[in-house]
Amino acid sequence: MVPWLDEIKRRRTFAIIAHPDAGKTTLTEKLLLFGGAIQIAGAVKSNKINRSTTSDFMEIEKQRGISVSTSVMAFEYKGYKINILDTPGHEDFAEDTYRTLTAVDSVILVIDCVKGVESQTRKLLEVCRMRNTPVIVFINKLDREGRDPFDLLDEIEKELKIKVFPMTWPIGIGKSFKGVYNFFEHRLNLFNNENKFVRTDNFITISDISSKELESNIGENFAEKLRGDVEIIQGVYDHFDKESYLKGIISPVFFGSAVNNFGIQELLDTFVEIAPYPKGRESDKGWISSDYPKLTGFVFKIHANLDPKHRDRIAFLRIVSGKFERNKNYFHVRHQKWLKFSNPTAFMAQQKSVIDEAYPGDVIGLYDSGNFKIGDTITEGENLTFKGIPSFSPEIFKYVVNKDPMKTKQLQKGLEQLTEEGVAQLFYKKIDNRKIIGTVGQLQFEVLQHRLFNEYAAKCDFDSLPIYKAVWVSSDNEKKMQEFLNERSQYIAYDKEDRPVFLAESAWLLQMAQEKYPEIHFHTINEFN
Ligand code: G4P
Repeated sequence: MVPWLDEIKRRRTFAIIAHPDAGKTTLTEKLLLFGGAIQIAGAVKSNKINRSTTSDFMEIEKQRGISVSTSVMAFEYKGYKINILDTPGHEDFAEDTYRTLTAVDSVILVIDCVKGVESQTRKLLEVCRMRNTPVIVFINKLDREGRDPFDLLDEIEKELKIKVFPMTWPIGIGKSFKGVYNFFEHRLNLFNNENKFVRTDNFITISDISSKELESNIGENFAEKLRGDVEIIQGVYDHFDKESYLKGIISPVFFGSAVNNFGIQELLDTFVEIAPYPKGRESDKGWISSDYPKLTGFVFKIHANLDPKHRDRIAFLRIVSGKFERNKNYFHVRHQKWLKFSNPTAFMAQQKSVIDEAYPGDVIGLYDSGNFKIGDTITEGENLTFKGIPSFSPEIFKYVVNKDPMKTKQLQKGLEQLTEEGVAQLFYKKIDNRKIIGTVGQLQFEVLQHRLFNEYAAKCDFDSLPIYKAVWVSSDNEKKMQEFLNERSQYIAYDKEDRPVFLAESAWLLQMAQEKYPEIHFHTINEFN
């Protein structure tokens, strides 16, 4: 048993995920407020880019600036060390979010009670399901005239394909919102929108909801309705089983209003109690448990320095096992070389500070001059690589057009480095030597162009390329694979690791190829490793 087991068990590393505008930033801020990490509301700036001005470069720069300082927000709460990993607010940066989800042990999903399940909610949950990540749902904005809570739960179950279990239940909604009833604590949490800036909820224990005490607190009509609802819930939803939550099968649901600081304490208290502590990860040499004594970790995010004159970057390392120590030599598996980190950084709320040690579940920033790329593994000498940091098949594709032939080398270098950071994916077409950039959002092209010019003095443009999807192809049948690559050579590109990718112009063409070549596997997700 490792001497730092208690340190592992008290850690909770998670992300808040949501469709933009559901209230992720607001909830993050309130959690930090509870943890005492910040003193006043309004201190956490929204990291989202103003969605109406997609070509505002200053906004892009702002996004980059803010997201470094809020990439990880750590704080202490009731003896727990909580690490919130921030995810970008803008949909175009969804891939960054997906990668961050590989570094967390659970998530809190925020849903707007007026809008219900939205497009981004669906995609994010798909990623969580791939790894069976435990999910707690927070239904937000109960102070607005939202949808019926039963309908919302139905929609979540159907659309997100998860089972839900309400831990609290709303009494009224919008203007008539009275608060929530907590089934487990048998208590009312009464809503008062003057509580915005205080930390505690307003709890009243009601041991028996058939007692008249309920009427005296919420009035006759609401009391009757609540009793009816509770009866239905007890009939429809099974009991809450923590094991099923930990396996990602059932999601506890809370109702509240982040902006009014309502229901947050309830959420946080349950979260620290039930959410998993850091659990370990799958590597090519098998499962590495969080209580394995030697240090292991992987890089899931790389952030460029804001000052373009300095090329150094920050690589974010999620510690999987062992104890990280400053100035100790660690092994960079891909490069087969030893590195020492003299100023590893931890992020406590908005403060960055150099740390001497870190434990499983923690995320530390390592200053890097180009050694790292996403997916890299660090060990104490073992040759193992963590799996499962996925690269998703991009949705928008463009040819790169070099606008300054004198700067061809710079363009190449810039493209290589920026794609290592995960800004976009780079493919090569061998047939005509053209470079293709694939992204999940339009905005990345602007970021790329802007950064290539500012940081590498390279000028480029993009030519559109009507592709529906790029899918990685593989096969156990070498001959068939060669046949496929030859026959479709016009539509074959290679990624940076020289893995072949089929560029399908339409869903129909993809289907045709799949039917014609049953021996070929078409993958929409690839792992970086
Ligand atoms: P995001 O990070 O998920 O994109 O959402 P964010 O927290 O920025 O919240 C989006 C908007 O929803 C904000 O309003 C925020 O104040 C509001 N909001 C968050 N929680 C609640 C809630 O419980 N009730 C109500 N009624 N609104 C809520 P905004 O007008 O876009 O920004 P701001 O000017 O208020 O900051």
